[in-house]
Amino acid sequence: MGYELINANTFEELSSWPETTDPQAGWQDGGGVHAIVTDPPYGVIEFMEENVEKMRQGSGGVWRIPPSLDGSQRNPVPRFTVLTEEDKQMLQDYFEKLGELAYKVLRPGGHIFIASTQLLMHYVSKGFDEAGLERRDVLVRETKTLRGGDRPKGAHDHPEYSMVSSMPRVYWEPWLLYRKPFDTKLVENLETWQTGGLRRESEDRPFTDLLEDGKTGKREREITAAANPESEDSHPNVKPQSLMRELCHAALPLKQGVILDPFMGSGSTVAAAEAIGYDSVGIELDDSYYEMAKQSIPRFAEISTPIEQREDIRKTKAAEESTSLSDFS
Ligand SMILES: C[S@@+](CC[C@H](N)C(=O)[O-])C[C@H]1O[C@@H](n2cnc3c(N)ncnc32)[C@H](O)[C@@H]1O
Repeated sequence: MGYELINANTFEELSSWPETTDPQAGWQDGGGVHAIVTDPPYGVIEFMEENVEKMRQGSGGVWRIPPSLDGSQRNPVPRFTVLTEEDKQMLQDYFEKLGELAYKVLRPGGHIFIASTQLLMHYVSKGFDEAGLERRDVLVRETKTLRGGDRPKGAHDHPEYSMVSSMPRVYWEPWLLYRKPFDTKLVENLETWQTGGLRRESEDRPFTDLLEDGKTGKREREITAAANPESEDSHPNVKPQSLMRELCHAALPLKQGVILDPFMGSGSTVAAAEAIGYDSVGIELDDSYYEMAKQSIPRFAEISTPIEQREDIRKTKAAEESTSLSDFS
């Protein structure tokens, strides 16, 4: 199948999908998806039309433009500390609704890998718990950001506070790991639904919850900027291919099935799945990001990372190639 891209609101789109009831059916016909790997908007707020507009104009809203370093332009980042109590409740309700839809479209035992932030991950968890999903872990993606670590506002007038920061500088990103429950043994679920476990890196090494330094490369940003002829801005939240390929690889324990990214953005999850030989579906609401993803995915997929050098992935690619060659024999 490869990949399929849908330009729609995820909540409306997934509401129209059938319940997952039949392990033999395709994902559109009640067979469900095997995993969800996604980086959602946090949302509700930062990707509301008015805030996207402010971000595009480089002024205000919930977006903060970090200072440029060494002359290089920084991407805007959301300022989550501006959320009110009402915003936080809205966030929890949002993730509960997302959790319910994920529950509906996932196969039993299907995993969800969802990017989060230190300040808001408990709202995602509360929503997902309410939706009946099972918490499995919090993955730590090492990534040095410019968030946090600031001195108190006005501290330049108070030399006695020069050694104070209001918050830690953020050097890691949490990815919550959830699973749709199943009521048989893992081996039985694997046999029926091909889900329930995580794929190991190799026979000797399991998938681990510490994801090594995962900075988004300049190359990924440039690809999205080139796919945005209007402003040449990159997508504000592009995730690196090395990270996304690691997660997609772990998401399909038997290397069989379909990965869904309900908040596709520039398409980094879909491209990662494509690069390691997995099928995927991406959904994006914003028309220009959807167009950006269409162009960026083939280019992201060409990026070379150490992940696809692993024996397990080389075997998938080799099997794929021999199948496509046999189509001509
Ligand atoms: C955090 S970004 C994902 C970025 C992505 N990981 C990448 O590497 O480009 C979230 C994306 O979800 C999209 N989005 C927000 N609300 C949505 C909705 N209700 N349905 C579908 N997409 C939505 C936004 O336009 C944005 O592109």
